[in-house]
Amino acid sequence: MARSKARVYTCRALTLLCVVTIIVCIVLLLRRKCPVDTFSSAAVAADSGKCSEIGRDILQRGGSAIDGAIAALLCTSVMNPQSMGIGGGSIFTVMDRSGKVKIINSRETVPQKFKSDLLKTCPKTFQLVSGSQWIGVPGEIRGYELAHRLYGKLPWATLFQPAIQLAREGFPIPPVQGRYIQYIDTNQTQSLRKLYSDKDGNLLKTGDVVKFEKLADTFEMIANHGADVFYNGSIAEDLIRDIEEAGGTLTVQDLDLYKVTVTDAWTVSLGEYQMYIPPPPAGGILLSLILNIMKGYGLNSASLTGEQKTLAYHRYVEAFKFANGLKKYIRDPQFNSEEMARKFTEDSFADQIRSLIITDRTHDPEYYNTGPYPDSMGTTHVSVLAEDGSAVSVTSTINHIFGSKVFSPRTGVILNNELSDFCGRVDHISPGEQPPSSMAPAVLKSESKTLVIGSTGGSMITTGIASTLMNHLWFGKSLKEAIAAPVVFVDSQNALKFEPKFDMEVIEALKALGHNQETANHFYNVVNAVEKEDGCICAVSDARKLGQAAGY
Ligand SMILES: *[C@@H]1O[C@H](CO)[C@@H](O)[C@H](O)[C@H]1NC(C)=O
Ligand SMILES: *[C@@H]1O[C@H](CO)[C@@H](O)[C@H](O)[C@H]1NC(C)=O
Repeated sequence: MARSKARVYTCRALTLLCVVTIIVCIVLLLRRKCPVDTFSSAAVAADSGKCSEIGRDILQRGGSAIDGAIAALLCTSVMNPQSMGIGGGSIFTVMDRSGKVKIINSRETVPQKFKSDLLKTCPKTFQLVSGSQWIGVPGEIRGYELAHRLYGKLPWATLFQPAIQLAREGFPIPPVQGRYIQYIDTNQTQSLRKLYSDKDGNLLKTGDVVKFEKLADTFEMIANHGADVFYNGSIAEDLIRDIEEAGGTLTVQDLDLYKVTVTDAWTVSLGEYQMYIPPPPAGGILLSLILNIMKGYGLNSASLTGEQKTLAYHRYVEAFKFANGLKKYIRDPQFNSEEMARKFTEDSFADQIRSLIITDRTHDPEYYNTGPYPDSMGTTHVSVLAEDGSAVSVTSTINHIFGSKVFSPRTGVILNNELSDFCGRVDHISPGEQPPSSMAPAVLKSESKTLVIGSTGGSMITTGIASTLMNHLWFGKSLKEAIAAPVVFVDSQNALKFEPKFDMEVIEALKALGHNQETANHFYNVVNAVEKEDGCICAVSDARKLGQAAGY
């Protein structure tokens, strides 16, 4: 009797053990580890591995997404000073943990005094434009200040420490920075040339050690005394003195008057996602128009097979031609009506444009109202997703390579040439006005997914983001494959420029449809993105700029 009871208990215990084991196994399987190459908590995608790591370290120390983004940007101003810096401006798209999205706009503005014939001296075709007359009032540091005041967690000075150390101690020039040093070789840029010269006056090259000691001093002043030192303190005076010596018109009042704006993001629905974009003068509306047109074609992975592939790309480049014709509606809303810009985000407007896209032919530039806009290049982008689900997508720039190429020796700051972004777009500018931009830092959110994405590369920004989203959301490519996919860029003259390794079949088929094709020597599109899906985070920095993301 006692024996059989013991047997029953043993049996029950074993059964229980089995059940528990099975449950544990199921739970473990469901909560599987994130795949290799992904992260489980947070990630940063900047355009260099070093700056992604610095952003990640800030997150790991309890920093917010904004803290990580600011530290990564400050690092980038040293690792890729040809792309951005505190002499420029940026646009932030910030999603807080509750999912609310705001835009912090610290783009440069027209100074109170500027050359009256400035727009008459605009180049007619794409080229680097240097000189102090193109300098806009820098907004970068005021942008960081407000972003940090609204969303920061770590002390302000902490965000500057890694960049101060890099700038002061120096580092071997990375290949991307090295590639652009050759651009500093004209008479206009003697102070910048000096910054990049060895003691015998030879230009530095990749691998040589470069230091930015003056910039380190300036960072330290801003870290310790706050942004005011740059806008109405001693740095402001030094900076203006150097700009004056270079023939520029900026004054201390311009800096003192500079104001950052905070607005709501504009939203666009894309299938399961809401896409949040910055309104004009940012370029988000071009992106939204193109995606709104394309979503109406019901694209999926089958769209990449046979004839459908050509048709998909034909429609895509046609959409870009219309977007080219509509660029003139990107203006600073504080100075111009934004009624037309609003339409760009509406489905009915995309439907209207879609009805003008003919399946088997393309048209002359007049059909699309194409304007005489020279194309542009440059910029950097940082995407951050923090542990609490908050996100930052920020694009920052001094415009062209090394901006105006005016370097301020007293402060270590390289000044932007942002005013050249008005070229070909307007015939009149006002003090305080922000130039139109292609920058489109975006955040896409669905029930279960978040995608933080942005691109650099001036006019190629829209191409970079639209191509990645089309390949990822609709054609079913992984984020990494989607970013790596070769792009077709529709230039300001509506000529198609194909990135090397672009599908030859499509190139031939598009030629047969009458699309004008040209070759481009440079593709500046660089997409950095972070995506969270089912608790796993995938972060990709574009290999085109030898980028590397970081996370934990
Ligand atoms: C550069 O400066 C030198 C000396 O001032 C002058 O002789 C030369 O013509 C200048 N070159 C250009 C391209 O302006
Ligand atoms: C500098 O500007 C800030 C912000 O506009 C202001 O609060 C401060 O009083 C100014 N300081 C000086 C010395 O003008």
